[in-house]
This record gives sequence, C-alpha cells and structure tokens, in this order.
Amino acid sequence: MDIEKKVWEVLCSEKEIELRIEELGAAITEAYKDKNLFVVSLLRGSFVFAADLVRRIDLKLKVDFMTSSSYEHAEESSGVVKILKDIEEDLQGYDVLVVDDIADSGLTMRHVMDHLKAKNPESVKCCVLLDKPSRRKVDLVPDYVGFTIPDKFVVGYGLNYGDYYRNVPYVFVVTDQDRTP
Ligand code: IMP
Ligand code: MG
Repeated sequence: MDIEKKVWEVLCSEKEIELRIEELGAAITEAYKDKNLFVVSLLRGSFVFAADLVRRIDLKLKVDFMTSSSYEHAEESSGVVKILKDIEEDLQGYDVLVVDDIADSGLTMRHVMDHLKAKNPESVKCCVLLDKPSRRKVDLVPDYVGFTIPDKFVVGYGLNYGDYYRNVPYVFVVTDQDRTP
C-alpha cells in the first residue's frame, strides 16, 4: 500500500481528541486523587497521547517510559511481546496507569500489565486512546478508553505507518481509493 497516493479519512479530529482527553484527565484525576499515581507510557506509539493526557491530570504524579516490541513495519502482530526497555524505579507503593495509543489484539497491554504487576505496585490499570475490541486475542478490557473504533488500520497522533506519520495531529484511516492527481 502506497499511503501517499491514497485518500486519508479523518477518524478522530484534533478537536475531538482534545475534548476527549480533557474528559479522561478529569476522570483519572478524580479516581487517583487519594492515590500515588505513576504513569507508564509505552514508546513509541503513546508519546503524543501521554504528553497531552498527563497535562490534563491535575495531580502530583510521576511519568516514565517503557518500550516493548510491536508491529514495527508489519500490519499484523507476531504475537510475541518483548520488553526492550523496562521501568527501573521500585514501583511498590505506586498506583500504575499504563498508557498506550491503541489496544488491538491486547497482547502488548496484557503482557506489559502482567509484567508490571509482578513488581508489586498498589494497583495496575490502563488507558488507551483507541480501542479495537473486535480484534482482541486475550482477555483485556481497558480501564480508560478514548474512542472505540472499528477494525481498521489507523495512523497519526503517535500511531505510525512504516515509522512515519506519528506527527500528524489527528487520527486517520487510509481508504481503498487512490487520490486523484
Ligand atoms: P496489540 O498488542 O495487538 O494490542 O497491539 C498494540 C500495538 O500495535 C499498539 O501499541 C500499536 O503500536 C500497534 N497497532 C495496533 N493497531 C494499530 C493500527 O491500527 N495502526 C498503527 N499501529 C497499530
Ligand atoms: Mg505500540
């Protein structure tokens, strides 16, 4: 698929994303007001979402980053998730919220959450901007979801296609139509 020659269809606009993140931030602020929040952002896909989300959480919190193996250049997951960069800090006493761009098969989030639970924090929950529940291969119901979307490959706002387009400020799908010159 040569994405440059295809029509981009906006799925979540900048404004829609902004408003939804405000709501998510308010809900998380309320839920964690008496807790000790530690946000774990999964690189690279969630860097844009996490940056916007944490600025809408009105609490004293910590942020750190993890990297796990992902789709990379393929559209289908290999089903194998590896931790490439772990959290170094002792998580005991913290309430961990794992933030990712999208829950697709759920393999990544399930693996990362189980990995972090083994470090004995107070709690481990997750927040995804996008959820594709129809694609789920493991038992995962995200605690916070920005938008539930159909089974389409989405790009932008941190999500990549062939490592590009992460900087596009909205989420789009690529249609089957070719762009007319
Ligand atoms: P899962 O492990 O199948 O849930 O996939 C999670 C990871 O796959 C996400 O963190 C994304 O990096 C990537 N991914 C899944 N669906 C899409 C998509 O539609 N566009 C871009 N990346 C995706
Ligand atoms: Mg990812």
